[in-house]
Amino acid sequence: MKKQCVLVSGGAGYIGSHTTVELIEAGYDVVIVDNLSNSEIGAVESVRRITGVDIPFEQVDCCDREAFRKVFEKYEFDSVIHFAASKAVGESVQKPLLYYGNNLTSFMNVVGLMHEFGRQNVVFSSSCTVYGEPDKQPVTEQTPRKPATSPYGNTKQTCEDILRDTLKAYPEMKGIALRYFNPIGAHPSAQIGELPRGVPQNLVPYVTQTAAGLRECLSIFGDDYPTPDGSCIRDYIDVTDLAKAHVAAIGRMVGDKNKENYEIFNIGTGRGVSVLELVNKFEEVNGVKVNHKIAPRREGDIIAIWADPSLANNELGWKAERTLDETLKSAWEWEKHLRGIK
Ligand code: NAD
Ligand code: UD1
Repeated sequence: MKKQCVLVSGGAGYIGSHTTVELIEAGYDVVIVDNLSNSEIGAVESVRRITGVDIPFEQVDCCDREAFRKVFEKYEFDSVIHFAASKAVGESVQKPLLYYGNNLTSFMNVVGLMHEFGRQNVVFSSSCTVYGEPDKQPVTEQTPRKPATSPYGNTKQTCEDILRDTLKAYPEMKGIALRYFNPIGAHPSAQIGELPRGVPQNLVPYVTQTAAGLRECLSIFGDDYPTPDGSCIRDYIDVTDLAKAHVAAIGRMVGDKNKENYEIFNIGTGRGVSVLELVNKFEEVNGVKVNHKIAPRREGDIIAIWADPSLANNELGWKAERTLDETLKSAWEWEKHLRGIK
C-alpha cells in the first residue's frame, strides 16, 4: 500500500521538527515547507539524521501563494499540519501587521490551496491563549473563549474561525485544531529542540540559558498572585508528547474516525505547575543552580491555566506520557548540546 504523505508547514521549527520525527516513526512520508524565518536548515538535517530518511524540504514562504502552489503541484499529500506562523506574544503587540499578515495569509493559503487541489485533512496549531484568563480550572474545549489580549492570540482565534467556516462550507474536507498548552523540552536524542532568537521570552529557555551561564539571573514574574506559592500556574506539555498528538490527529482523519469534520482538542497534561515549582524541579533533577529573583508581574500574564485533556485522551487515544522530570532533563540536555557543555 502507498504510504500516506503529510505536508508539514513550519517543519524546521520547534514543534514542527519534533512532529516530523514522530510522523516518520509512525510510517508517514513527510514534505517540509519552511521559509526559515525563525529556524535553521540544521534542524531539518538533524531530523533527517534522527529518522534516517532524506525528507524533502522546500524553502517557501506560505504567504507566497504562487510558490506554495508549486509545492501542491509537485507532491501528492492528503494531509497538512500547519505550524508556520509568527509566535512571540510581545512582538505581536509591537508589530501587529506582521502578525496578522503572516499568520492569517499563510493559513488562508493553506486551506485555499487544499480546497483547490482536493487535499482533505488539516491540523491547525492553536493555543490555550484562546481561553484568556479562565473563570474555572481545568479548561475544557467547552470553556468559552475570551477576547484575545494580543494580536498573536487574535490570529489563533481568527484562524480557528476561518477553519470552522471553511469546513462547514466544504464538508469533503476535515480539520482538527489542537489547542496546545505550554510546550517545553526537547527530543530525547538532544539533536533537536527549541532555538530562541535573542533573549528568550519563554520560561524554560530562560531557565536553561541561565543554568548554562548565558544569562545572569532569571526573573520570576510575580510571587503575589492568588496561587498556593504566589507564582503563575501553567500546564507544561512535553514537546515529544505534543508531537505525538499530531500523529493521532492525522490518524483520526485518515482513518475516518472523526465525529465531525471540524474538531478541537486541548493538548496538555492536566497538571498545573507553578513557576517556582518548575524552577526548583529543574535544579533538583539536573543538579544545577538557576540564579533567580522575584520580579514584578509581567503585563498581560494569565494567573493560572491548565487543561482538562480528557477529550483528547478518549477520542484521539492520546495521553501525555513523559514526566516533568524527564522533560526538564531533556531541556537541559539540549541546552548543553547547543553550548558544548559536558
Ligand atoms: P517556531 O517559530 O519554532 O516554528 C514555526 C516555523 O514556521 C519556523 O520554522 C518558521 O521559520 C516557520 N514560518 C513562519 N512563518 C512562515 C511562513 N510564512 N512560511 C513558511 N514558514 C514559516 O514555533 P513553534 O514553537 O514550533 O510553533 C509552531 C506553531 O505552534 C505556531 O503556529 C505557534 O503559534 C503554535 N503554538 C506554539 C506554542 C509555543 O509555546 N511554542 C504554543 C501554542 C501554539
Ligand atoms: C504564552 C501564551 C502562549 C504562547 C506562548 C509563546 C498564554 C496563556 N500563553 O505563554 O499561547 O504560545 O506565550 O510565546 O497567553 N516567566 C517568568 N520568567 C521568565 C519567563 C516567564 O517568570 O523569564 C513566567 C511567566 O510569567 C508565566 C510562565 O513563566 O507565568 C510561562 O511563561 P511563558 O513561557 O512566556 O509562556 P506563557 O506566557 O504561558
